[in-house]
Amino acid sequence: MPRLVVVSNRVAIPDPTGKGSAGGLAVALKEAFQAYRGLWFGWSGRVSAHPSLEPKLVDKGNVHYALMDLTPIDRQEYYNGFANRALWPNMHYRLGLSEFSRADYAGYLRVNRSFANALARMTRPDDLIWVHDYHLIPLAAELRALGLTNRIGYFHHIPWPAPEVFGTLPGSRELLRSIADYDLVGVQTDRDADNLRRGIVQEFGATQQGTDVVVLDGRRTRIKGFPIGIDVKGFQQVARRSPAHRVVAQTVASLGPRRLIIGVDRLDYSKGIPERMEAFERFLISNPDQRGNVTFLQIAPTSRSEVPEYASLSRTASETLGRINGALGEPGWVPIQYVTSAYPRSVLASLYKIARVGLVTPMRDGMNLVAKEYVAAQDPEDPGVLILSKFAGAAQQLTDAFIVNPNDKFEVAEAIRDALHMDREERIARWKRMMKIIEDYDVSWWADSFLKELGDRKGTNKARRRV
Ligand code: G6P
Repeated sequence: MPRLVVVSNRVAIPDPTGKGSAGGLAVALKEAFQAYRGLWFGWSGRVSAHPSLEPKLVDKGNVHYALMDLTPIDRQEYYNGFANRALWPNMHYRLGLSEFSRADYAGYLRVNRSFANALARMTRPDDLIWVHDYHLIPLAAELRALGLTNRIGYFHHIPWPAPEVFGTLPGSRELLRSIADYDLVGVQTDRDADNLRRGIVQEFGATQQGTDVVVLDGRRTRIKGFPIGIDVKGFQQVARRSPAHRVVAQTVASLGPRRLIIGVDRLDYSKGIPERMEAFERFLISNPDQRGNVTFLQIAPTSRSEVPEYASLSRTASETLGRINGALGEPGWVPIQYVTSAYPRSVLASLYKIARVGLVTPMRDGMNLVAKEYVAAQDPEDPGVLILSKFAGAAQQLTDAFIVNPNDKFEVAEAIRDALHMDREERIARWKRMMKIIEDYDVSWWADSFLKELGDRKGTNKARRRV
């Protein structure tokens, strides 16, 4: 059995107390690591003026962690800069927010190169290498330049935009070319896969073999949708446990007979948080009988606050919230409750279960696992209703949700009204169909099917070094 080497910007080391909330990727890879023995390489989350060129090694169970510190400039240019100020907005179709700087791009390439240098010293020839997310797109190209011939896969957790959109980003051509250094590229949906393949074919005149494979400079790269799933059983177990947490008890007490609508997202402009608040406002204006009878709880943990566009979003969300609560609230009833702290999975699971409506309306999202977790947490006898943006990858699978266009607050307001009125029979029927898909395509399916294809040497690349 080859060793599995996972590379990602954030590395989630298990919390020795077992109390911390495991990050999404950590949950996703738990089982894969049980099958493979592994190494997880990435950023330690720390900055240091003179970081070591060798990673710090930490051993936990059968996984070894190798952690690199960054300099403050690396962090600024690679993480805050190119990854989160240029690539992230571009890939979420927010061209007006995408800020390109040559210095940031150089920093992004520099960190990828230094990660590759450190990683190459730790790898063995038969390791399966699995790189994650947009921070590390050029990693395989850097590893190949150092002579690595391993099977290398990449999973892109966020949307891959249409070539016309991606092509606006300086550096995009070089990034597209570096995709060809992977053997397998996984994206969330077939649409993302099509966008990426079309980009490579249009930009370089690469040829396509069958549906999934593009051939560039003699190298074959398979590009396919592998929709990421959740740990269904684990999440349901957490949701079933009695909600001992103070936050859950207080939410229940403060709701009284009112119904709860819930939104849970990192505070990110791709999530459509102010837009969602305005849709809820529109719902209250159009349905005055509902005032005082329903509360919208938006949990939005602060994220990437050093990036100016996130600070600006935070102000917009607070202003929108204040305006709506001021205009429509009454003594004893606040229409929108808004918190920017992060809560453990157990609290979120309990809140999902209590909520009659899950409002998941990103402007653009790779998959959106909140949508799947909301459904998984429901009581099968009396499930709530999922309202889901057509621009979330999850909408390709969860077609029994109320699918909405988040740009139309009237449409979202009508969906909220219809969701609150939906009878139990229909709620159960829709929930069952969604659950089937969530169970069939859970996180083990995702990791297993990706790794199986990555390890499959059929039609493998022979000359792995780029010419
Ligand atoms: C998205 C990305 C992840 C990232 C997460 C949190 O889900 O796909 O790679 O880790 O956001 O963002 P952060 O910048 O805090 O790592």
